[in-house]
Amino acid sequence: MRRKFLGGNWKMNGLKSGLTALLTAVIQQLKDLATVEVAVFPSDVYLESMGNLLKAQHSAIALGGQNHCDHEEGAYTGETAPGMLQDIGCRYVLLGHSERRHTFGESNRVIARKFALAKQHHLIPVLCVGETEMQRDIGETEAVVREQINAVVNEVGINALAKAIIAYEPVWAIGTGKIATAEAVQEMHAMIRKHLANSDHDIAQNIQIIYGGSLKPQNAKDIFVLPDVDGGLVGGASLKAEDFTALAKLLAS
Ligand code: PGA
Repeated sequence: MRRKFLGGNWKMNGLKSGLTALLTAVIQQLKDLATVEVAVFPSDVYLESMGNLLKAQHSAIALGGQNHCDHEEGAYTGETAPGMLQDIGCRYVLLGHSERRHTFGESNRVIARKFALAKQHHLIPVLCVGETEMQRDIGETEAVVREQINAVVNEVGINALAKAIIAYEPVWAIGTGKIATAEAVQEMHAMIRKHLANSDHDIAQNIQIIYGGSLKPQNAKDIFVLPDVDGGLVGGASLKAEDFTALAKLLAS
């Protein structure tokens, strides 16, 4: 049985006091929820203080970085090393989020290098993949997603995906309020699993494939029941304790 996963990607939102209040409420409301793996992804600036808060409350909620550099260390002003995320207590790191790919121009190759470094530093990569609206319109959805996954598998080998998560996030659904239909989500998740099974059947069966893009308690029910959906990656709704915890409880039900 694959464990359910819920990630809260806070992106570049909030300041310390508000985020502390948010996390405190989330910790309280989820303290009896053991069946879902929950992680929050604050900005690097707040990782340490949020990590300290989780520790002080003996919370099972994990900490993750939103990104790291594709180099190990050195003269890369403004960047964060993968080892720094590990050092500060991160268990996860988001890689290849659509905002990294499309706003900051990260290529499949760069993301694959980051994935290799994350594994070297014992971080669990949450590899984000997904097509733009234009790619969907011209029928390239599956090819685009396969290519995003192949870039990583070619760099690190299929075994490196044994401890990783894939987040399918159609770019046009992120932050837009538009959500993919349940049918389309199941189709893509099953396609991803089948594609991985060509390289390794067990890894394909065991990997958590989560959905992201405008998830809210009101629309998640239809998505979370799908057989190949193992959880969610949440942006906007993760900034409201009520919504985020409702999503976690939905996953647990
Ligand atoms: P959203 O973001 O939930 O605000 O659409 C999802 C994401 O960026 O992971």
